[in-house]
Order: sequence, then C-alpha cells, then structure tokens
Amino acid sequence: MQDLISMRSISWQDAGGILRDSAKMEQLLKNPKKCAHILENRVIANMFFEASTRTSLSFQAAAMRLGAKTLVFSSKSSSAAKGESFSDTIRMADGYSDAIVLRHPCEGAAQLASEIARHPVINAGDGANQHPTQTLIDLYTIRKLKGKIAGVKVALFGDLLHARTMHSLLFGLLMFKAEVTAISPKELSMPSALIREAERKFCVKIPCMARPELKNTDILYVCRVQKERFSDPKKAEVAARAFRVDAQLLKSAKKDMAILHPLPKVAEITAEVDLDPRAKYFEQAKNGVPVRMAILSRCILGKGKPIRQKSAPRSFACKNPSCILQAESANQRGVIGADNIVRCRYCEKPA
Ligand code: CP
Repeated sequence: MQDLISMRSISWQDAGGILRDSAKMEQLLKNPKKCAHILENRVIANMFFEASTRTSLSFQAAAMRLGAKTLVFSSKSSSAAKGESFSDTIRMADGYSDAIVLRHPCEGAAQLASEIARHPVINAGDGANQHPTQTLIDLYTIRKLKGKIAGVKVALFGDLLHARTMHSLLFGLLMFKAEVTAISPKELSMPSALIREAERKFCVKIPCMARPELKNTDILYVCRVQKERFSDPKKAEVAARAFRVDAQLLKSAKKDMAILHPLPKVAEITAEVDLDPRAKYFEQAKNGVPVRMAILSRCILGKGKPIRQKSAPRSFACKNPSCILQAESANQRGVIGADNIVRCRYCEKPA
C-alpha cells in the first residue's frame, strides 16, 4: 500500500493487515525502544489545512514512536495564506519529506495530492468526504472491545449528512460484516447516494431511523453536528439540541453497549455520560497512536496494493461545489465504482 485515500480504495486485505499490525504496534509500545528504529531517518510532513487535535497529535506521536521526524504545517502561518496554490504547496512538502499526512476542507484534496506527490499521501480528512485513518481506529477499537466486528450491531447516531467519519465508517463496518443502523434527524440523514452505493456494494439493507432505538445495540457511534459545514449556523444549533446522548437515553441500552465518538464532542453527549463505564471514546482516541503507527509504516515501507478503480469511458465534469477541482486545475476524470456508478475521481461524488 502506498497511499491511503479512501475506504473505497483500500482492500479488505490491507485494512485487515493494518488492524493486525496495530495490535503488534500496541504491544511494541509497552517497550518503546523496540519500535524506535522502524522509520528511523524518515521525515513525515503533517499538512493540516483545517483544525485538528487528535489526528494531528496522534500522527506526530506515531511518527516519533517509530523514530521518524515530523514537519508541522499550518495553512494560517504558511504561504498558503499569501495565495500559494494547493498543488504547489504539495510539491514543496513532497520535496522535503518521505510521506504526507493531509487534512483539507475540500473533498478530493487527498486524491489530487496523491497524483502530484511522488511519496505516499495519507488522507487525514478531506471535507465531508472521507476520514479513513479514523475508520481504521474505530474498527480496531470495536474488535478490541467485542473480540470481533462481524455481526456486531452498530448504530451510527448524529449528523450523518456531513460527518466524514460516518461516511468512511459505513464502508469499513460493512467491509467487515458488521450490522449497521443509521439514526439521525431527517434533515441530517446519510446521503441517499451513499446508502444506495453501500447497499449495492455489500448486498445489505441499511435501516435508517429518526428516533433512537438502542435495546439491541452493541456499539453506539455518535458524532457531533458539523456546524462548520452548515450554510445557516442557526439550523445547526437546532439540530444539535434535538439529538443528544444522556443518561435517560442510555437507560434502554445494554449494560455492555460501548459508546464511541471520533471526538471532538461538543454538546451531543452530556457530561454525566463521560462517567458511564460504557463511554469508551477516550480509549478509542488513545488507539489512534498504534493504528497510525501501523498505517505510516505500511504506507512508507510499501506493503500491500491499492484497489485500482476503472476509469469512466466518457469525459466528466464534477458539479460538487466542495470538490477540490473547483479551486485547482486537474484532469477531470470519472471512475466506475463496484456499484457501476460513475463518480468524480477526486471527491467521489456521483456524476
Ligand atoms: N477525530 C478527529 O479527526 O479529531 P480531530 O479533528 O481533532 O483531528
């Protein structure tokens, strides 16, 4: 595997390999000297064009644990603030480092960077599209908590329209045969094209509901309302107030249900829930270090292969206003997914 861009383009073998390597990394971390040579003398560029705490810090920690050095970039204090193009910025980072970890507000930025850079590119979140490294952490956490992923009943709960963590996780869970239910206010439901794609690709039916029903749930996966992706912030506040996890809601849930959240959490989980033994989100965030160690070493040391998607035979113009192609020029190409739908090669939105 060289790049890690999307849960659409990672194979089941690679994803499974990363989960196995993550368990080994977690063991090695008990005696950190044992892993400090794995990426010795390598330089990793952490390119964050959008705010982050966990992804940025845990990638830095992972790189350091493996013996690599990191370059830390912030768009506010770089020449991007003077108007330097994204493509030129990536060319610079590629020249200075052995791998690029990229977070960007535009969908498709990671795919475009991977076509510009000679070194591996790891998608650390591109707009509302994908967050594959978070998904691998989530899968690792579920397997650690429940001993398996297949057959585990997972309820995705919250802003399923905008949250890239949910869009990635849907594919990751179905790839490993979990049973998924989508619970959200109607106006924040999972994009129907995404649901259709996942249902066709994995031959499943995904129940979607507007009211939480947690009686049989093994994992309640919550995300915050993504205010930054709303055109009207007032609508975001109304949605956030209506959908909240509190002690009352948890009364109907199983005693061994686990509550996960990619974090940051704002008001969607009340403070009392932090004290509930079922709240596992801080443990989940801690798993970010061994999982990102596994991802960095696999991408840089080159194990595995990405899935090659078929190019669409006709020309393609992406209409998604959040796609990186609206700001940067690139060859507009479509690809055909496993469900035979033509999508933008960059933001992965259907034509
Ligand atoms: N889960 C996650 O991506 O958190 P950050 O935005 O803090 O990186």
